[in-house]
Amino acid sequence: MSNTERTYIMVKPDGVQRGLVGEIIQRFERRGFKMIALKMVWPTTELLEKHYADLKNRPFFPNLIKYMASGPVVAIVLEGRDAVATGRVMLGETDPLKSAPGTIRGDLCLQVGRNICHGSDSVQNAEKEIALWFPEGIVKYTLATENWIF
Ligand code: TYD
Repeated sequence: MSNTERTYIMVKPDGVQRGLVGEIIQRFERRGFKMIALKMVWPTTELLEKHYADLKNRPFFPNLIKYMASGPVVAIVLEGRDAVATGRVMLGETDPLKSAPGTIRGDLCLQVGRNICHGSDSVQNAEKEIALWFPEGIVKYTLATENWIF
């Protein structure tokens, strides 16, 4: 298992509006993940349609795009051991009401259409999403704490 697996995490517009950016980042940082990219962006419909391309035939797709385009999001790349699967566990289920307490969605929200945070669901999708949201590339740096975590 790689210590440098990457996942794409995004605080959605409701998470930003509700002032939950710090809380969400803090959970991942405390777990030991290294934040290697971070920016705020007000996404275009075009970018969101690419991000959610797999869902374009689902009935909720138009509302999903509208919600995601309703305000700025915070785009984050995290690196660390098993980042994708562990990121999903920390996020909870797609439906917040099915999410266990202790997870981000299980602690902080109630509705599937307002589930505050995205996390990649596979390593392959993480790579695609990181390329889509960070076409400018990502800085490389070493954290002094890395050797204490791995
Ligand atoms: P999906 O990729 O299935 O879930 P996840 O975000 O957990 O990977 O769906 C993307 C988003 O679409 C989901 O976070 C919320 C929204 N959505 C709905 O609004 N209604 C639904 O029934 C589903 C399945 C998703």
